[in-house]
Amino acid sequence: MQNAQTTGPVRIGLIVGSTRPGRRGAAVAGWVTEVASRHPAVRGGDAVVELVDLAEQELPLLDEPVPALFGDYRHPHTRRWSTVVGGCDAFVFVTPDYNRSIPAALKNAVDYLYAEWNDKAAGVVNYGVQGGNRAGDHLQAVLGEVRVAVVPTRVSLSLFTDFDFSQAQPGDPTAGRIAPAGEREEALVTMLAEVVSWSRALRATAGEPARVG
Ligand SMILES: Cc1cc2nc3c(=O)[nH]c(=O)nc-3n(C[C@H](O)[C@H](O)[C@H](O)COP(=O)(O)O)c2cc1C
Repeated sequence: MQNAQTTGPVRIGLIVGSTRPGRRGAAVAGWVTEVASRHPAVRGGDAVVELVDLAEQELPLLDEPVPALFGDYRHPHTRRWSTVVGGCDAFVFVTPDYNRSIPAALKNAVDYLYAEWNDKAAGVVNYGVQGGNRAGDHLQAVLGEVRVAVVPTRVSLSLFTDFDFSQAQPGDPTAGRIAPAGEREEALVTMLAEVVSWSRALRATAGEPARVG
């Protein structure tokens, strides 16, 4: 990815927040990608969606000596991650609920950077046994600290209603084909439109002072 642009299509980084082998996150991200490819904003050239898989970033637990706020990165993995996030204009986060919150890998990835997140729009797709909203709520609070504007529409997928276990082998912890209810796609379409329009609005303010007075 290159640096975020002030013109041209909105580049949306689709961040896959779980990293474990057999994760459902890859299938959820595949569904988001498929719906996005049919979205008017993408078809019309106003937005592009690029997969950002945390499992491929290989970020260790935060090992930078200087807080990200100062942008003084010492490690190649941080500079690589900085280029990836800095190249996005906006984000869609795909996160499961792990014990009432987001996966440690996702929190760690957010903590690595600061300016690269600032003043960008994001949508959240959360999933879990109970829909994953507690993880989504935590993620929204975390993103607020790095000045990411989370759009109002969120997509919540429940393992009970939005995955099909009819072909699953008993006891298989990776089982379940993604099969979201119709209104989930409607919510995702709305969310993507909000991400694009908020991102354009935030681009228009780029370079203006963050605070007045
Ligand atoms: C460590 C761990 C903790 C979990 N905690 C919760 C939870 O608190 N609430 C919930 O609804 N689901 C919970 N789940 C179920 C996950 O949301 C579900 O298995 C989901 O598929 C995990 O995402 P992944 O497959 O992308 O790793 C948990 C799963 C794991 C692995």
